[in-house]
Amino acid sequence: MMNTSDARQIVDRLLREVSKSVIGYEQEVKLLFACLIAGGHALIEGYPGLAKTTLVKAFAKALGLSFSRVQFTPDLLPSDITGSLIFNPKIGDFEVRFGPIFANIVLADEVNRAPPKVQSALLEAMQEGQVTIGGKSYELPRPFMIIATQNPIELEGTYPLPEAQLDRFMIRIKLGYPSEDIELKIAEDIDLGNVNSINTVVSKEEIDTLQSLMRSVYVDRSITRYIVNLIRATRNTRDVKLGASPRAARYLVSWLGLGRCLMVGIT
Ligand SMILES: Nc1ncnc2c1ncn2[C@@H]1O[C@H](COP(=O)(O)OP(=O)(O)OP(=O)(O)O)[C@@H](O)[C@H]1O
Ligand SMILES: [Mg+2]
Repeated sequence: MMNTSDARQIVDRLLREVSKSVIGYEQEVKLLFACLIAGGHALIEGYPGLAKTTLVKAFAKALGLSFSRVQFTPDLLPSDITGSLIFNPKIGDFEVRFGPIFANIVLADEVNRAPPKVQSALLEAMQEGQVTIGGKSYELPRPFMIIATQNPIELEGTYPLPEAQLDRFMIRIKLGYPSEDIELKIAEDIDLGNVNSINTVVSKEEIDTLQSLMRSVYVDRSITRYIVNLIRATRNTRDVKLGASPRAARYLVSWLGLGRCLMVGIT
């Protein structure tokens, strides 16, 4: 049976490996990992050139998970993400061509640059864990996590995610510019920024075990009630346009279990 120190040791291994490619993102890697274990999806916001893509690639590779990346553009179609039926003249019939969504970690780069129809195909997959191609449903692989990125400055020609869609993300990570020391290292070290040397340091079994460990953490009713009250209060304050959903309450309870089993300092 895994205990919290085993869990911490897995997190340390992951951090060490990812830092071969990207530096200064320990807290972000912990948050992404916690989100993966809790079965959530993440939204990363940050200016260009902060190593967002490299961070996600290194993260997936260190975990030995399949990875795909979709660059969102105004002309993207929902089927470019989910997949489509193509006619195969050899067999004289249609066959399924699975889209890039069929991966453990899907990087949806610049998610706000594609129109709502495409965004909703993505968000549907996030919630349902399955997609429909040509009228038939297909299960997505497990674990399954969307990491979407969004550039905070580009407003022209973009389609900001509506509040209802933001609700489907478990966490939002805002990346800032690095400290001077770190920026100096990035500028000097030419090995940073590529993921070629990243090895798989966490096994699928370890991920599975952490997921069941998280589910088994006892959360007292008094704490759950506190969380529910907190969530309900967000709907009754004039400072908040749209309050948090029951799903948000569920997410917070999961976070709590995670804090205990991963010791990632989630507050
Ligand atoms: N914290 C960091 N650690 C290591 N390398 C970094 C870091 N920040 C920036 N870089 C460097 O910046 C380059 C760009 O990285 P990357 O393409 O991942 O950025 P991005 O945020 O995805 O950019 P864009 O917004 O244009 O997609 C990399 O080659 C990397 O060397
Ligand atoms: Mg990028």
